[in-house]
Parts: sequence; structure tokens; C-alpha cells
Amino acid sequence: MQDLAGKHIVLGLTGGIACYKSAELCRLFVKAGATVQVVMTEAAEQFITPVTMQALSGRTVYTSQWDTREPNNMPHINLSREADAIVLAPCSADFIARLVQGRSDDLLSLMCLARPMDRIPLLIAPAMNREMWAHPATQRNLMQVAADGATVLGVGNGWQACGETGDGRMLEPAQLLEDVTAFFSPKLLAGQKVLVTAGPTFEALDPIRGITNHSSGKMGFAIARAAREAGADVTLVAGPVHLPTPRGVARVDVLSAQDMLEATTRAAQSASIFVATAAVADWRPATQSNQKIKKDGSGRTPVLNFTENPDILLAVAKSERARSKKLFCVGFAAESENLAEHAKAKRERKGIPLLVGNIGPLTFGQDDNALLLVDANGVRELPRAPKLTLARELMTEIAARLPDWRV
Ligand code: C5P
Repeated sequence: MQDLAGKHIVLGLTGGIACYKSAELCRLFVKAGATVQVVMTEAAEQFITPVTMQALSGRTVYTSQWDTREPNNMPHINLSREADAIVLAPCSADFIARLVQGRSDDLLSLMCLARPMDRIPLLIAPAMNREMWAHPATQRNLMQVAADGATVLGVGNGWQACGETGDGRMLEPAQLLEDVTAFFSPKLLAGQKVLVTAGPTFEALDPIRGITNHSSGKMGFAIARAAREAGADVTLVAGPVHLPTPRGVARVDVLSAQDMLEATTRAAQSASIFVATAAVADWRPATQSNQKIKKDGSGRTPVLNFTENPDILLAVAKSERARSKKLFCVGFAAESENLAEHAKAKRERKGIPLLVGNIGPLTFGQDDNALLLVDANGVRELPRAPKLTLARELMTEIAARLPDWRV
């Protein structure tokens, strides 16, 4: 997806082994539709060559403030004025300290200092050893650089090139792409707390087996990501799925419908928007065996009895918070035919302001989908598109409905 189409990013590399990841980051920015101008410090050139970055960005790399290619000999002015954002990845501890001090004795620091602060954002992806990261000097500098208007994208945790394990790794290129994309997104849901349920539930029969369904969780995860991009504080209650947690989203993993109900009602107490995409099992086995149910060779098969599961959406929609219009509830309906009719009936039955219909067999496990939005005013179609695109459109639709609904 061309999430960064039309954007011009100045990608600054400073001295750190994480420079090897900047090659991939550059490629991801370009693939997402951005033009990328790479600027490297002398120390960065010790880790990766400008040739690599030139080949990936398709532009010659700038490394010196004395670069005579610029007719006015002012690359620090020219490069920063063209940018939609300056992204420093990796940003070393030393470079952060230099930013704090307003040093400007090399092209990259000079360019950061010379950037018009009101219109050219500076995003930094720190990378360093865990002791350097934890040092009060670094933490103090990070607070100062943020106070001076930079956006600090955070660090990863794990094995470090020095052989130690801890905080301070540069975020992975895909994570940085997600963060930079989110940074550019309009903050339509700023101040909102969005709660999303996603995926299937798993209803245990015994310690080995259980009943579940084919829900992939992709739509719900895309919604959680889109809500965070739109500036919301997001909690994602996820059934058993193998999907990475969207950046900046608080995830609660659950198995059964009962667990999901508990986690959801707890989070719903402070949420302002609830989107129920989970394919909750309608029934669970009436009894759960503590031990594996064994076949005894007699040919007799076990008889299974079922109990109906709680309807999580219905329970939340009936809560005081939803009824007093502090919590906007959105349901999903997976149907196989007569989508509009079924979706309208389901919206009434659940007593919610917005219901999103889709045709189940056309969406399960797919990366794209088509949605039908049903509210009190009628029906609106969101044509087939990638799930993330639809999730973003849905966030826009929800944001547009909130003011009228709340009065
Ligand atoms: O009633 P039905 O399962 O068709 O409704 C679908 C909608 O209700 C979805 O939003 C789904 O997440 C939610 N739901 C729920 N708990 C259930 C069943 C459905 O939250 N037990």
C-alpha cells in the first residue's frame, strides 16, 4: 500500500550498527510511495556505505556541509526545506546529545538545527547499548529533545550486537514504517479510547481439544491499527490468532468467550468507542473435562452438550456507559446473503448506533473485504479494498458520527 505517497522524507543516519537496518527502512519508505533523501554522518559511513543508500533511494547521498553540488552551497537549508519530515534512524546517543546542545558542525546536525520547526517535523529512532539507553544523561537528553519539539519513536528490547540483552535496539524497519505512517495520519480520534475485540474464541472440551472457527482476526487488528493512527488510545482484546500486535496498541490475549467477556467489560468501563469484530463462538461445551476424553475401543462416541455463550456486544451495548452515550458501540455481522436486511435487523436487535455488514465467505482469512455500514439514517457501502484501507475509512465514518450521536 502506498501509505506515504507524495511524502518526501529526509532519512538521516548516524553512527551505530543499526545502520544495517536503515537500508531496509529506506526500501520500505520508497515502496510506500515516498521519495527519500539520505543524509549520513561521517560515523554512519563507518557502518554502511553511501553507495548502498544511493542505490536504494535512487538519489545521491549527502554527507558533507561543504557539498559543492548545491549551487548556493547550502545543503542544510535546501534539504530541510524540501522535507515533509526528517527521520533520524538510527539516532545515536551522541547525536541526541548534539541535538540537545544545538551543535551544528556537521551536515546532519546543522540541517536539524536549521529546519523550520513549525512545519518540518523531526522524528528520531534511537539505537544504542542498554546501559547507554538507561543512563540518566541519555534519558535527560531524550526528554529535552522531545520538549524541543522532536518526536521520539521509542526503542526495541532484545539481543544487542554487543552481546547484551535489554532496551535500546532500534525499532525494526516495519515498525518504523508503521510509526511514520501513523505520524502523518489525521488525528480524527484524538482523546478517544477505542476498544476492539478480534479473532475467534476457543471453547475447550478438555485440555487437548476445543471448538473454534476460521476467523483470522485481520479486520479487527486493522481496525486497532487504524484507530491508533487516528490518535486514539487503543485496547485490543484478541482471541487466539497469529498476528503481530499493531504498534502502540495494548493487547489482551484471551481464549474463551467468557474470558473475552471479562476482559472486554473491564476495558469498556473507560472506553469511548467499542468495535466488536470478534467471531465469538455461540456455544461452549456444557462441561469441560479436566483430563483428555479418551476413546475406549467400544465404538461409542461421546455425547456433547452445549451452553450458550454470553453476547459480549449486547452486554456492553446495554451497559450504563453505552446507554448514557459515553460509549459508541459498533457491531459486525458476517452474513452469507441478504446482507442489508440482516444487518439492519441485527443493528436493531443489538441496540447499537452502527453495524458493519460483510459477506463471511468473501472475507474470512482474506486481506481485503467490502463493508456495508448500517445506521439510523440508512445504508452506505465501502467498496472492496484492503482491510487496512477499510479500517481507516471506518474510523473516519465513526469520527464523523460521534458529535451528532452524543448530543
Ligand atoms: O449475533 P451475531 O453473532 O451475528 O453478532 C455479531 C456481532 O456481535 C459481532 O460484532 C460480534 O463481535 C458480536 N458478538 C459478541 N458476542 C457474541 C456473539 C457476537 O460480541 N457472543
